[in-house]
Formats: sequence, C-alpha cells, structure tokens
Amino acid sequence: MTRTVPEPPDPGVVNALRFGSDTFRFLEGIQSRFDDATRIPVPGAPDLVVVTNPALAREALDQPDVFGRVPAQDSAALISEQGLVQSDGELWRQQRSVMGPAFAGRQVAAYADTTGRRAEQIASEWAERGEREINLHREMTSLTIRVASEILLGEDIGRERAADFHEWMATAGREFEFGLEVATPEWLPERISPEFEEAAANIRGLAEELIERRRADLANGDHEGPPDMLTMLIRAEDDPDVEYPENQIRDEVATFLIAGHETTALSLSYTLSLLSQHPTAREEVRAEAREVVGNGPLTHEDVDALPATMRAYREALRLYPPAWSVFRRADSPADLGEYRLDGGSALMIPLWSIQRDGRYFDEPEQFDPSRWERRDPGGVEAYMPFSVGPHACIGQAFALQGATLTLARLVSQFDIDVAPTELDDLRVTPTLRPQDGVSATVTPLD
Ligand code: HEM
Repeated sequence: MTRTVPEPPDPGVVNALRFGSDTFRFLEGIQSRFDDATRIPVPGAPDLVVVTNPALAREALDQPDVFGRVPAQDSAALISEQGLVQSDGELWRQQRSVMGPAFAGRQVAAYADTTGRRAEQIASEWAERGEREINLHREMTSLTIRVASEILLGEDIGRERAADFHEWMATAGREFEFGLEVATPEWLPERISPEFEEAAANIRGLAEELIERRRADLANGDHEGPPDMLTMLIRAEDDPDVEYPENQIRDEVATFLIAGHETTALSLSYTLSLLSQHPTAREEVRAEAREVVGNGPLTHEDVDALPATMRAYREALRLYPPAWSVFRRADSPADLGEYRLDGGSALMIPLWSIQRDGRYFDEPEQFDPSRWERRDPGGVEAYMPFSVGPHACIGQAFALQGATLTLARLVSQFDIDVAPTELDDLRVTPTLRPQDGVSATVTPLD
C-alpha cells in the first residue's frame, strides 16, 4: 500500500522561516520527529520532501533516472552549467566514463603523493615563521586547489591564483545563502551580483587558459607523463562515440577546479578545528603520525599506517559534512519505500542531521573518532559524507588519502588552536562554509 509523506504540523510559511533562519536546528527537529520523511509545502512550487531515513535516502540515490538532479541549484551550476556535478542522463554517463580513469589506481597514488609534498611545504613555511595567527581555511584552500590543478589539469596554478580562488569561492558562497526555495527547480538567486559574475568569469577564464595551454602542448608533442583528466577530455574529442555540447571541456575543468578542492579544504579546516577542541584525540593522531613521519614528505604508502588519523577525519566528516545535503527531484510521480511522491517533488537528503541522529550513532553530538574502530564506515547506512549510488563522489579516494597525509604532517609538527566559537556560525550555502575563514594560532612543536 502506498502512503503520502506526512506534513509537519506548522504551516508552510512558518517552516520556510525556520528553515531559512536556523537551518540546522530546523533539520534536527525534523530528523527527530519523522522516522522516514516529511513533506514541506513550498508556496508556489512543488513540495520539498526531506528524507530522514537513510535506507530511503539510499533508495533514491540509487535511482538517478527516477530521482534526477535539481538543475541550476548552486553557484557551481552558474559557473559551469554542464560539468559532472551538474549533468544528468546520457551526458553525465558519457562524461563519467571519459573521466573515470583519472580517478582510479595510479592517479589516486599521484594525488596522495602530491598532497604529501604540498603539506610538507606548508609545514616548512609554518615552522620558519614561528608562532602566529593564520586563516586556516585559506591555507587549506591553497593546498587543495594547487594539488587538484596539478593532478587533474597537469599544472599547479600557483600561490597567487590559489589566493584569488579563495576569494572567488567566498564571493560565490555569499551569493548562495539557503532558503527552502533553493531546492526547487525554478530557483535562481533574485539578483546575480556583479561580484559573482566577475568571480565566475575569472574561474571560467582560468579554465580556458589551462585548456589552451594543454592543447598547444599536445599539438607540439610537448606534454609528458601519463594522461591526466584534461588530456583524457581533449583526446575524447576524436572519439566518434563521444559528443560534446559547446563549452563542455571548459565546464568540466571549471567544475573540477571547484569540486576538486573546496570540500576537501573545508573538511581539513573542520577536522583540525575539532582536534584542537579534543586534546586526547589530537594526541592520539600526533603519536601515530610521529611514528610514521620520517624526514621526507608522506606518500600514499604511508596511509595504511595512519588509521587513527583516518578515523579522526572520518568522524569530522560525520559531524561537519562539507556537502551538508544532497538534492534530487522526482520528474514524474514516483514511489519511495512505501510512499507515493508527486511529480516535480524536490528531495532533500540532509547529511548533517542524518549523520547526527541518535538512532544510528551513540552519543551523536560527540566527536569520537574511536567509534570507527568499532564500526566499519562502509557498513553504516546512515554515514554517507560522499553520497552513494551512481553519482557518489568521484574524488572520494583522493580526499580520504590526501587529507589523512595532510593531517598527519601538520598535527605531528604543530599545535593548531582554533576557538570553539569558530564553528558556531557556519554559512549554509551549497557547501557548509565558515563565515570569514577559520582563525587559528599555529605553534611549532619541538
Ligand atoms: C571531503 C571531500 C569531499 C566531499 C565531502 C565530497 C562530497 C561529495 C558529495 C556528497 C557528492 C554527491 C553529490 C550528489 O550526489 O549530488 C560529490 C560528488 C562529486 N564530487 Fe566530491 N566530495 C569531496 C571531494 C571531492 C574531490 C577531491 C573531487 C575531485 C577531485 C570531487 C569531485 C566530485 C564530483 C565530480 C562529483 C559529481 C559526481 C557525479 O555526479 O558523477 N569531490 N562529492
């Protein structure tokens, strides 16, 4: 028998206000009240169904042809309309198969090794400069964007451009504060600001520049090394089975410049902040890292020797998932579990509140990396910081390995102290972002 998803008791306008003013408390309230899902009427738009049951969430995410993407819901969609994070159906399938090999096997090791080298470089700079205040998030953005550009696009964009990128992303984040309407298909910000337009144009311009240079290198036979994502994209133009819409390569490169670094930088900032507030966990990571860290940079081969560091990272991804919610839309009437959804319904899968639900995690609000000693993250239905199903994160292995090496290097050598209030007031944009970066004091250790 099919049922209708229950509505919350408050009228739609009250819900919309609560959602907009204190999104996470609102979602946690819904999470504790509804076992499966609730349906929030949005004035002038199809319903928003908030899915609270992880089994139903997985059911929806496993069926991209029934529950497709919500088009143009975030800043990335306005910067690079058809990149892999936005595309659906045949185009998405084609692109995922063209680029898939750039995210497996040898490339994962290369990403980890490059991250290890960059983390080493940051550590030497920090050590030289002694105790000081830093914007931790800016530093992590610089690290991750330079690694992503080097591995995926074959070129480190350099320190200055990395700093520019940090500003462009902050501008994009400011443009996209969340309200209920954001999850609806017709939503666009009321006014696109000139600052956002400029940031978007800069990101696209950088993508075009990298592509042009690579095309020239490939034509002259100057490009060395195994093919990376950009080479794969360019070579696929000659494949008769591949058909690109206009600007497809540019959209992919811009997408990966964003998706390849932002979430990882956020996750590192959050993990280091949490470790600063949990000295025992920090000591455990430090003791482990000191055993493994030798004289040179850490490499992918060291990852397996850092299980406590990996657990701390996984636990931070549970409490502060950088992609705090995943969105989908039912194009036609659809069944989800025992529920019948109207065609056009938007689906919100709030990883933030699902991953803090006491039905699935003991002491859910506690930062407790040791829970991942007792449980296998792959076997916990309610744990999905990289999403699941065919659209699950293509960069998951990159992020897990790269972040583990970075954390080990930095925690072994420094006290990175972050005031607990720094995580109090996060911005609800398509990603979970700190207001003005994360202030931290870095103290080199003996
Ligand atoms: C901690 C780091 C990261 C987190 C938490 C994260 C999270 C996610 C999530 C939740 C999704 C699914 C979105 C959806 O289902 O609509 C996703 C997709 C994606 N991620 Fe990540 N991500 C991370 C790192 C990365 C990295 C390092 C890359 C690239 C190098 C990347 C590239 C992508 C792409 C291209 C997609 C779209 C995949 C598709 O639809 O086929 N992500 N990510």
